[in-house]
Amino acid sequence: MEEKRATYADLKDDLLLTKEQIARRVQEMGKQITSDFAGKDLTVICILKGAVMFFVDLVREIDLPMTMDFMAISSYGSATKSSGVVRILKDLDKPVNGKDVLIIEDIVDSGMTLSFLKENLLSRGAASLHIATLLDKPERRRVPLHVDYFGFTIPDEFVVGYGLDYDERYRNLPDIGVLKPEVYRK
Ligand code: IMP
Ligand code: MG
Repeated sequence: MEEKRATYADLKDDLLLTKEQIARRVQEMGKQITSDFAGKDLTVICILKGAVMFFVDLVREIDLPMTMDFMAISSYGSATKSSGVVRILKDLDKPVNGKDVLIIEDIVDSGMTLSFLKENLLSRGAASLHIATLLDKPERRRVPLHVDYFGFTIPDEFVVGYGLDYDERYRNLPDIGVLKPEVYRK
């Protein structure tokens, strides 16, 4: 057994998803995307910062020509509930008009962030727009949203690790776990 890291003390004992489970699922998603987009030249967009781990792992499982771009948005502040207000903190470097775009995001919660992004990129003239997200919390959806690729459906609990943060922390954990509520209540 591997020794658990110091910060795992802030997580509930049973990890929600281990790095092995994540890696297996990401590999499957990569295969699926590779076959679905055969013949296309993808523009893959990483939504910073939460999706960064998922992004770097997933793109290496996609066997297609692609370019990458990065966008940073904020909808959360440091709380654990969506504010509903989406701000672009860093925009794409290149235009997406005429491109086949795949957005790579960490988690769909209320759905507000991705529905904003979808509208935003379509209004810039993307030829097609698909979404891949590692996690989905369907119980918390507030706006309807079609997502093309989901990694895992999870219960309505606040999770961290593998890119996901609470107040910018825990992103470096290789697994995903539920944050103990006393950590964000204090
Ligand atoms: P939505 O706009 O409510 O769908 O929120 C999506 C964003 O909220 C994600 O990109 C995450 O940054 C953040 N988020 C939602 N749930 C969690 C969670 O359980 N842990 C960490 N971040 C979360
Ligand atoms: Mg976040």
